[in-house]
Amino acid sequence: MEYINNELHFGPEKKNLSSLVANYVRPIYVYDLSFIKSRFKQMAEALAGVRLYFAVKANPNPQVLQCLKSLGAGADVVSLGEIKRALESGFAPEDIVYSGVGKTKHEITEALKLGVLQINVESLQELQRIGEIAEKMGKKAHVALRLNPDVSIQTHPYIATGLRDNKFGMELSMIPDLSACLKKYAQSLELVGVSLHLGSQMMEFSGYQEALVKLKESYQSLKKDFPTLRRFDFGGGLGVVYEKQDLALESRLLAEYAGITKGILSDLNCELQSEPGRWLVAHAGVLLTQVQYVKKTSAKTFVIVDSGMNHLIRPSLYEAEHQILPLVKSGKMTTCDVVGPICESSDFFVKDYSLDQVQEGDFLAVTDSGAYGYSMASTYNLQELPLEICI
Ligand SMILES: Cc1ncc(COP(=O)(O)O)c(C=O)c1O
Repeated sequence: MEYINNELHFGPEKKNLSSLVANYVRPIYVYDLSFIKSRFKQMAEALAGVRLYFAVKANPNPQVLQCLKSLGAGADVVSLGEIKRALESGFAPEDIVYSGVGKTKHEITEALKLGVLQINVESLQELQRIGEIAEKMGKKAHVALRLNPDVSIQTHPYIATGLRDNKFGMELSMIPDLSACLKKYAQSLELVGVSLHLGSQMMEFSGYQEALVKLKESYQSLKKDFPTLRRFDFGGGLGVVYEKQDLALESRLLAEYAGITKGILSDLNCELQSEPGRWLVAHAGVLLTQVQYVKKTSAKTFVIVDSGMNHLIRPSLYEAEHQILPLVKSGKMTTCDVVGPICESSDFFVKDYSLDQVQEGDFLAVTDSGAYGYSMASTYNLQELPLEICI
């Protein structure tokens, strides 16, 4: 993000964002594919030897997916809808890792028909269900056990997933039961991996390190019983800085994360898999919205725009702070809340925020919204979904 002659320009190719609102109809997510490419290359280099499966939930835009596929990514999916989107965007079934706590019988059947690379299993009941379905179909399902090491990371509680009281994964004490189930369905289940995902927005790695050590031991003991075990999926979750972009800090964190991961796992001599989402795409997206009203009360100034929690729910859901910038700088600052049109008090982007003075018809950019933006958008209040364009 950079102002040139007071106009906001975006991405390595310095696109003038004002040129994208010339025929404005409704809010637009803009994604910069060159930014995504450079992030992917940076991560692939730091984690050389690891196959990266992009977490489709972060941004399922077909052009974004095609871009990542062309760079060699696989796809980490959590529903049949995401499997279909990945296939339509050029991924092969063998590029797909299928996670998620609530896979239905129909979804499992379709995944087995298609022959996805691996199903990451989240409960004993699910393992049993996959065994039964695969048996009936005369197939062998390739499964990885998502193990929950009961380790906490510093993040918002809504995006922590690796604790005993989270619904995700299976406690290590379940391993004997899981092993018995794998043996019972030996004809229809092949254990290929163990997997882990501790949560999102991880910026400090002591919990992650502890979890890898625990899971490595589980891998080694499972390998004795199940020689087919050959993959270690260490999940996604590497964090980004939202309040003010700091790519240098993110590069240092990536190096630390990669060092810890390789330091602990490389002597397993197995295939390593990762499922990054946010880190690859968050900074590559921006949401453009138009000011409808500037409303002053005795307590506050509200800048009311035509986008809100219906298009980007992160501020309301996780108290996330996205920087908001006007497309054209006025040079005079004011303190205001930037809020949306939705009939909820939690419908805001920022509160008590220092923003250039704006007026009806002006445009604002909500920055770093390329991850968990459009993918979490809804039509609440029967507002239309935003548009998406790639540059
Ligand atoms: C199983 C799994 N893998 C990967 C991810 C991607 O996480 P992030 O976008 O933080 O990298 C998620 C996110 O929720 C997830 O649940």
